[in-house]
Amino acid sequence: MTDATPQPVFLKDYTPFGFLVDRVELTFRLAPTETRVRARIAFRPNPAATDRRFFLHGEELTLISAAIDGHPVTPAITPAGLSCEVPDAPFTWDCEVEIAPKENTALEGLYMSNGMYCTQCEAEGFRKITFYPDRPDVMAPFRVRIESDLPVLLSNGNPVARGTGFAEWDDPWPKPSYLFALVAGELVATSERYTTSEGREVDLNIWVRPADQGKADYALDSLIRSMRWDEEVYGRAYDLDVFNIVAVDDFNMGAMENKGLNIFNSRYVLASPETATDRDYENIERIIAHEYFHNWTGDRITCRDWFQLSLKEGLTVFRDSQFSADMRSAAVKRIEDVMTLRARQFREDNGPLAHPVRPESYTEINNFYTATVYEKGAELIGMLRRLVGPEGYRKALDLYFSRHDGQACTIEDWLQVFEDATGRDLTRFKRWYSQAGTPRVKVTEDFKDGTYTLHLEQETPPTPGQDKD
Ligand code: SER
Ligand code: ZN
Repeated sequence: MTDATPQPVFLKDYTPFGFLVDRVELTFRLAPTETRVRARIAFRPNPAATDRRFFLHGEELTLISAAIDGHPVTPAITPAGLSCEVPDAPFTWDCEVEIAPKENTALEGLYMSNGMYCTQCEAEGFRKITFYPDRPDVMAPFRVRIESDLPVLLSNGNPVARGTGFAEWDDPWPKPSYLFALVAGELVATSERYTTSEGREVDLNIWVRPADQGKADYALDSLIRSMRWDEEVYGRAYDLDVFNIVAVDDFNMGAMENKGLNIFNSRYVLASPETATDRDYENIERIIAHEYFHNWTGDRITCRDWFQLSLKEGLTVFRDSQFSADMRSAAVKRIEDVMTLRARQFREDNGPLAHPVRPESYTEINNFYTATVYEKGAELIGMLRRLVGPEGYRKALDLYFSRHDGQACTIEDWLQVFEDATGRDLTRFKRWYSQAGTPRVKVTEDFKDGTYTLHLEQETPPTPGQDKD
């Protein structure tokens, strides 16, 4: 634990990490209180960076050994991470740590839930698994080996090897550490095979505890409809040979879009006709879709830093709203979304916690998973779509996917594709991302000498840190 007062992080202070990561290989030897994690990471100097200090985040880790290019090193360790002298050339970092998943009650990093191992790494949980540049703009392909006697051993990507007491996974798509996932336990799957629009055969599995067998049918059906919808409406097909979803009883968030291995709070997966309400089914469908849609808006294209959180969340909420509208009643969905916005986001925007869709500083990023970032962020995208029309929107999105695939992006990148695809100047629109508060629009009308005049006047009441409109 650290005694130091947490320091705020500022958007304006962003600088790229001094090194690129070409490859990450992780080996987990699972044990409740003494899991060993070995990491082999290929680093090379980042030509786009000027600061070459080698600092790796790491919290609550017991360092067993560290080496650079095979030579043991003794890093300087603080409660936040480690630093070390490194060569000014590509090098291999080998490190072994010990962690205690059973004692991890924060449910961040690797922890246990009813005898099963699972992870939650967004936003900053990976640093509780091993030392790493735990920031979303550092993207790398991961290979993972899990050693355990438990029957089901899962990680991101495609399965590449399986034997008694171990499994290996390889994720070819470069990803940031917050999308890393591992699950090990006694689980049973509800499965289906799916052929993508690009002809890829994908094994779909929804893993639950044996006692919950039979309760994942609706989640699986929702997943298949989400996959088809994303192909038809956004031209986005799935990109691995398997897609796994796991239901976990203890989970901090609703669900999490880890690449190829989504992890869900079990209440958003499990349903049986005897007990589930219509609302339960609606929520399962929506959240399964939301996490699946992140595969493109979040995983393939991610955020440069956590200030850009709405880049993936606002967009993905907007996409899941469109999906629900298509699957059900568009009018009812819109009424529900507006009711939620008024009940939750307007309150946030009109109180002491008001903040812009893209905040300029934070002390604890976990406090920014808010209705403003998610729901107001989604409304901004709805406004953009209305401004440029459905065809302009599709053109802009196609450009976003082709230009930024594999990158960690910003709100500026996002708006730029709309400007480039439609020729529209969005300088003023951009203020929606930096201005907190709910604007008030005053409408007055006038009819004189055969002329009808409509006056619209807009003002935004002051919010904390933004005294003026
Ligand atoms: N990234 C997660 C989600 O929104 C966090 O809840 O799906
Ligand atoms: Zn999300």
